Amino acid sequence: MTNPVNDGIFLKACRGEKVERIPIWFMRQAGRSLPGYRKLRETHDVLTLTQTPELAAQVSMEPVERLGVDAAILFADIMLLPIAMGVEVKIVEGVGPVIDKPIENPDAIVRLKSFDPRNIAFLQETIRILRSKLEVPVIGFSGAPFTLASYLIEGKPSRTWLATKRFMLEHSEAWYTLMTLLSEAIVAYLHAQVEAGVQAIQLFDSWVGALSPAEYRQYVLPHMQRIFSALKNEKVPRIHFGTHTAGLLRDFADVDCEVIGVDWRIGLADAKDRIGGKALQGNMDSAILLAPWETIQETVDSMLKEINPKQGYIFNLGHGVLPEIDDQKLKKLVEYVHST
Ligand code: CP3
Repeated sequence: MTNPVNDGIFLKACRGEKVERIPIWFMRQAGRSLPGYRKLRETHDVLTLTQTPELAAQVSMEPVERLGVDAAILFADIMLLPIAMGVEVKIVEGVGPVIDKPIENPDAIVRLKSFDPRNIAFLQETIRILRSKLEVPVIGFSGAPFTLASYLIEGKPSRTWLATKRFMLEHSEAWYTLMTLLSEAIVAYLHAQVEAGVQAIQLFDSWVGALSPAEYRQYVLPHMQRIFSALKNEKVPRIHFGTHTAGLLRDFADVDCEVIGVDWRIGLADAKDRIGGKALQGNMDSAILLAPWETIQETVDSMLKEINPKQGYIFNLGHGVLPEIDDQKLKKLVEYVHST
């Protein structure tokens, strides 16, 4: 049986409504250093875990049970979509996603198969299990087309994205084709997740901050606008997240979505100014959690002073939880944010 839609503080804040308590969850809260996940990793690799519904659901639920966060995120990876499109991806320990045959030239795009939701039936099953067991909402997600394209073209994580930029600038027609293919797949992939029961969706454009505002407008923004407009039909809050996006936020605000997620490189008041009436999610520097508790508390206090945190705001980190963070600190942070 599916629990009734939980209309708790997370979904309310996404819709810009007033809340009694500030909602909080963490990007990359599932997995990482949580003990239940570490134990499962002794016997299973990451991809196998994401493809095994009972276990994936267990990993998604662990932070809800241990930390008391207000939303669960589906335990999956942004590379599951390219995998469902026929790309061979390995997750290499200490590196991340690695692809044997990256898309090095325009001709290679034909190797991408169109997305068939039957290839992610396991994810839909995970979502159904989560909905039957959890009272907090479940967030579904996808990588955004720029971030996905960057892995497909680079073949591995990059911090300069030069192959990606070169492809984008040198083969702008093929870039458009690739972005269009990925965008259509993303819409279908997220539709399948909503159909199975996720109550909010987030697009991770983790690496798009590598572009200048002019490049963003020319090569990415039109695709984001089409994706988010298509997703309006899903009738769940849509969260648009990226890092290094301070200079892109006014363009982000030109995309039809409910929530914008920001990292710590911009203050919350400034971010709010740039995104207009949309809800805001973020943005504590993940590294602050390495500091003594007093520093963490002061950081939270000064963040929350910048905005009205009980309307249209969701507390989160500016990017993912670092693997070295002690979960007791995360738990204390959840309790503190809830108590303010
Ligand atoms: O962190 C982000 O920027 C969010 C978007 C993103 C995800 N995966 C979402 C995710 C990105 C950019 C990836 C790619 C990826 N996949 C990386 C990063 C590589 C790089 O370029 O720096 C890595 C290391 C993976 C492999 C992976 N995915 C592992 C080892 C795990 C297990 C948990 C962990 O982080 O150790 C995942 C799961 C994963 N990837 C989740 C999400 C939202 C699951 C939910 C969660 O962790 O909360």
